[in-house]
Amino acid sequence: MDWGLQNRLSRIIKPDTGKTVMLAVDHGYFMGPTHKLEQPRKTIEPLLPHADALMLTRGVLRNSVDPRANIPVVLRVSGGASIVGSSLANETITTSVEDALRLNVSAMALSIFVGSEYEHQSLANLGRLVNEGEKHGIPVLAVTAVGKELEKRDARYLALSCRIAAELGAHFVKTYFCEDFGKVVAGCPVPLVVAGGPKLETEMDAFQLASDAIREGAVGVDMGRNIWQSEHPVPMIRAIREIVHHGLNVREAKEVYEDAKKSRIPLMASPRRPN
Ligand code: R5P
Repeated sequence: MDWGLQNRLSRIIKPDTGKTVMLAVDHGYFMGPTHKLEQPRKTIEPLLPHADALMLTRGVLRNSVDPRANIPVVLRVSGGASIVGSSLANETITTSVEDALRLNVSAMALSIFVGSEYEHQSLANLGRLVNEGEKHGIPVLAVTAVGKELEKRDARYLALSCRIAAELGAHFVKTYFCEDFGKVVAGCPVPLVVAGGPKLETEMDAFQLASDAIREGAVGVDMGRNIWQSEHPVPMIRAIREIVHHGLNVREAKEVYEDAKKSRIPLMASPRRPN
């Protein structure tokens, strides 16, 4: 792997633990002003010190993130569909690699829709983006998207999508957690991060998801709604960090969450413990 590409990737997947907590705030690109992400700057700012990377579009990056923020950016470069349109899968590449370079991003992200009527188009998009990324040393994150068909998220389907993404050259893949997630990991030769998906009923459910995903081989999370739609987003991301980077179990993570809720001092990122 090219030095620049490897260097960029290591800004996201932290070499000291081999893990990452990515904060996903790209939802507006097809969902508009999503609940609790109506004003992205307000949502993002308090969470920034606790995230290893930020996943978002160029519009939100330019308008809602201080350019002096020292946070690796995973730039969503696919889009072109909306939640009220006929198909979420009908995406194209919306952002040039030149713009990604200008924004000094650490990776570019694009969705693939395996099994949809736009399967070929989205996979061809991925191939093209990897070609461009390789030219410039920018890693590509493939997102195995399911559009509105959330029920598709089983191990057989996700293993198929993740493997195809890796075969086409994605440098890491974002997918959903599922039963038998180990099979998805086993069939995918590049690192996997898991999305949180729609807000779960309790914080404990989100801790469980993160903990199970890490135990079964994910290198981290790329989580959005289960963090910033929580009543306590900073305590939430702090607890998730502890699970991902330090292997805390769900009960221990809940303690971190409750302690952080009580904390009156500004909530800074927890120092990293050695492995
Ligand atoms: C979906 O494709 C979006 O790209 C989100 O980044 C992704 O779903 C992760 O966010 P959440 O944890 O809210 O599902």
